[in-house]
Amino acid sequence: MNIKQNLVAFVCNLILAATLINGSTDHERKAYIAYMGDVLQDRATISIMEEHHGLLSRAIGNEKIARESRIYSYEKSFNGFVARLLPQEAQRLSEDENVVSVFPNTIRKLHTTRSWDFLGMTKTIKRSQLESNIIVAVLDTGIYVKSPSFNDKGLCPPPAKWKGNCDTGPNFTGCNNKVIGARYYNLDNAADPDRDSISPADTDGHGTHTSSTAAGATVNGASLYGLAKGTTRGGVPSARIAMYKVCWNGGCTDMDLLAAFDDAIHDGVDVISISIGGSPRSFLDDPIAIGSFHAMKKGILTSCSAGNDGPYPGTVQNIAPWILTVAATSSDRKFETALKLGNGDTVSGISVNTFSPRKKMYPLTNGAHAANTTANNYGNVSACDYGTLSMDKVKGKIVYCLGSASQDYFIKLLGGAGTIMVLDEPSDIAFTTLISATSVLVKQGIKIDRYINSTKNPQAVIYKTKTVNTTAPFLASFSSRGPQTINLNILKPDIAAPGLDILAAYSQLISITGERTDNRIAPFNIISGTSMACPHVSAAAAYVKSFHPDWSPAAIKSALMTTATPLKIKPEDAELGSGSGQINPKKAAHPGLVYDITMSSYISFLCKEGYNDTNIGKLIGGKKKHTCSSFKPAQGTDGLNYPSMHTQLNVTASRISAVFYRTVTHVGFGNSVYKAIVTSPKDLSVQVLPSTLKFTKLHQQKSFKVVVKGGPMKNGTQILSALLEWNDSRHSVKSPILIYKPIPLSG
Ligand SMILES: *[C@@H]1O[C@H](CO)[C@@H](O)[C@H](O)[C@H]1NC(C)=O
Ligand SMILES: *[C@@H]1O[C@H](CO)[C@@H](O)[C@H](O)[C@H]1NC(C)=O
Ligand SMILES: *[C@@H]1O[C@H](CO)[C@@H](O)[C@H](O)[C@H]1NC(C)=O
Ligand SMILES: *[C@@H]1O[C@H](CO)[C@@H](O)[C@H](O)[C@H]1NC(C)=O
Ligand SMILES: *[C@@H]1O[C@H](CO)[C@@H](O)[C@H](O)[C@H]1NC(C)=O
Ligand SMILES: *[C@@H]1O[C@H](CO)[C@@H](O)[C@H](O)[C@H]1NC(C)=O
Ligand SMILES: *[C@@H]1O[C@H](CO)[C@@H](O)[C@H](O)[C@H]1NC(C)=O
Ligand SMILES: *[C@@H]1O[C@H](CO)[C@@H](O)[C@H](O)[C@H]1NC(C)=O
Ligand SMILES: *[C@@H]1O[C@H](CO)[C@@H](O)[C@H](O)[C@H]1NC(C)=O
Repeated sequence: MNIKQNLVAFVCNLILAATLINGSTDHERKAYIAYMGDVLQDRATISIMEEHHGLLSRAIGNEKIARESRIYSYEKSFNGFVARLLPQEAQRLSEDENVVSVFPNTIRKLHTTRSWDFLGMTKTIKRSQLESNIIVAVLDTGIYVKSPSFNDKGLCPPPAKWKGNCDTGPNFTGCNNKVIGARYYNLDNAADPDRDSISPADTDGHGTHTSSTAAGATVNGASLYGLAKGTTRGGVPSARIAMYKVCWNGGCTDMDLLAAFDDAIHDGVDVISISIGGSPRSFLDDPIAIGSFHAMKKGILTSCSAGNDGPYPGTVQNIAPWILTVAATSSDRKFETALKLGNGDTVSGISVNTFSPRKKMYPLTNGAHAANTTANNYGNVSACDYGTLSMDKVKGKIVYCLGSASQDYFIKLLGGAGTIMVLDEPSDIAFTTLISATSVLVKQGIKIDRYINSTKNPQAVIYKTKTVNTTAPFLASFSSRGPQTINLNILKPDIAAPGLDILAAYSQLISITGERTDNRIAPFNIISGTSMACPHVSAAAAYVKSFHPDWSPAAIKSALMTTATPLKIKPEDAELGSGSGQINPKKAAHPGLVYDITMSSYISFLCKEGYNDTNIGKLIGGKKKHTCSSFKPAQGTDGLNYPSMHTQLNVTASRISAVFYRTVTHVGFGNSVYKAIVTSPKDLSVQVLPSTLKFTKLHQQKSFKVVVKGGPMKNGTQILSALLEWNDSRHSVKSPILIYKPIPLSG
């Protein structure tokens, strides 16, 4: 080989090597988020971009790739960036002393008016003049500004503190004095151009629904095709809405969520509402925990949905102690859909069926009778699984199907007139059906099936849904339950609010079921989820803030929690399902006492939880060097001045022993004497020391401790719960005390 050949080979190898690097760039590099704590205000010598570039160059070892790999920098409210990295580069980056954490970008899910009257917030409730200065940020799927709920009649231009933007784009022409801000984030191209509008427009409906529940204007005569007719309004109808669209058809990415926090905190919002979740993680790897921490530092409370993974224990999400974590309850209304059989029997089911029958009776069949005998598949015929039924035998008929997952969709595809679905387990949630349909319990299902088998020409009719009154509230079956898995001594969820069958505004860019075959486009829709509960609490927080603009996020949270109405439906759920109970916004405006938490107490708590000096210093930011030893050590079982008290015992623990140190701040008027009233089960001793607190002036603080002893816990018992109430005869300041012990695995 001569030199020339050698050179060619060398150049070729170079190109090959470059291709290999690029090849791996394309399919092996994944988006990671690097988090560096607070933004340094004093940044004289080096810009944040240079800092990010430097970090990336060191981790990757190649200037050019480093430059190309960066996707976005967070720099307004905290310090961080997103970049495409190989796992070993992410590892190297995480070892850099300037970096707090590095975690992969994941995709999170949405936690998919009368509810306000039901919460005691009537139309005539006393409102603060300052309500229209309150800005509620909603991180969600976008917003449909043309909805009557976002009419800005009577509202002045945005308050002076507002620094946000209004992006425009497809299906979104701009904001108004109700929806004062709207942005969208599509940093990782999560948007699906087929289904999403690349703008703040809501092509899902969820964000329009949550925003209007929080701060929608009053609309009379709202309903879904006549169902649930009444007045809808947000909890703070004069407040402003800022939409930060972070969710697309495929979900909501961590990087978009963080970008929204970075902006919202900077834009001057008062409350942040997030009906999105994902598996709980250590705070430093969790975008909602990080974002809400920086929001809290700036005096902004974040309220989040607890998740829809109930009734199973240990499923609660969004559990950082500075977040207000919201469970879902029922309101006092239920959606019943009745049907009548040819033999005159009537059966009551549950669904949101907007269709009125056009005939007196329809032919009725079941999966077994309507089977497609020539279809060669393994689906469940009785359950009417996709592809198992014959179009000829279904057309124009009502079909009885075992199971209740999308059968209305399959029967509609085959031209059926309706479907009767059977619930495996009793359910409290009414879903909007695509055709005339209802869901019945197994027992009633058997009755219907027996009738079908007993006659040659079975017939039935399904009526339009009616709303009926129920006793309320109860915890929704789907609402995620504690115990939480990260900070074992902080009770989560914190609080509960209506999340079942909520009527609120909807986007008219999508059908009410989200199905393309559905042509029902409506200004309002009825949907369920802790997603719907969360904006009720965000609004309640905004309401409290409108009376007390100087209160910290922790004080507002305390006011909401200590005035909530305890919910105790099933002993196995107790406070692990609903926290302090159902919100009572009117009482929360005047709680008497608050459990406040300062930034330094949160830091002491984090130190107690094992976060180290390096990370703590970065979370706090500033020039001064902070270490855990520069803060007062956190005391007691939980180490935080939390408005509820909780401990999860070790499975091997034989006795219960916990001490909670608390300080309350007097926010009532003049002299007050509060007495501790404890309600506790026989097997639990709860001592409050001192048991009387005397206050002589506003903002005076008093400390006390609660000593809990007992045990061993009875065989099979997982939960013991008590209640501490500070009472001055005008106020009742309640804190649940919950002891949890896992049942040992047998064997
Ligand atoms: C939304 O925008 C798209 C693209 O601009 C347009 O084709 C569509 O008609 C719009 N939809 C509505 C309901 O305005
Ligand atoms: C039955 O199933 C076969 C195979 O999937 C399909 O080709 C046929 O159209 C179906 N018949 C009816 C009446 O739906
Ligand atoms: C079909 O589904 C129903 C409802 O889930 C179930 O009860 C039944 O056992 C299933 N049948 C078969 C053959 O799997
Ligand atoms: C009705 O008939 C079908 C098909 O023969 C059978 O699978 C089902 O068990 C019968 N239902 C009742 C309630 O007897
Ligand atoms: C249902 O409750 C509402 C409001 O509490 C009341 O006005 C109405 O009369 C009740 N309806 C029935 C049927 O009890
Ligand atoms: C602090 O914790 C991080 C992991 O979160 C670790 O990488 C770092 O080395 C620790 N620093 C010290 C000083 O222990
Ligand atoms: C429970 O206590 C034992 C013994 O002290 C310890 O080894 C174990 O890690 C503890 N388990 C938990 C879940 O804390
Ligand atoms: C607790 O119950 C389990 C069975 O559920 C039994 O094996 C065990 O002996 C019981 N322990 C006590 C202390 O009663
Ligand atoms: C506590 O105070 C409330 C007023 O908020 C009063 O109605 C109630 O009777 C008091 N409870 C007890 C147990 O003293």
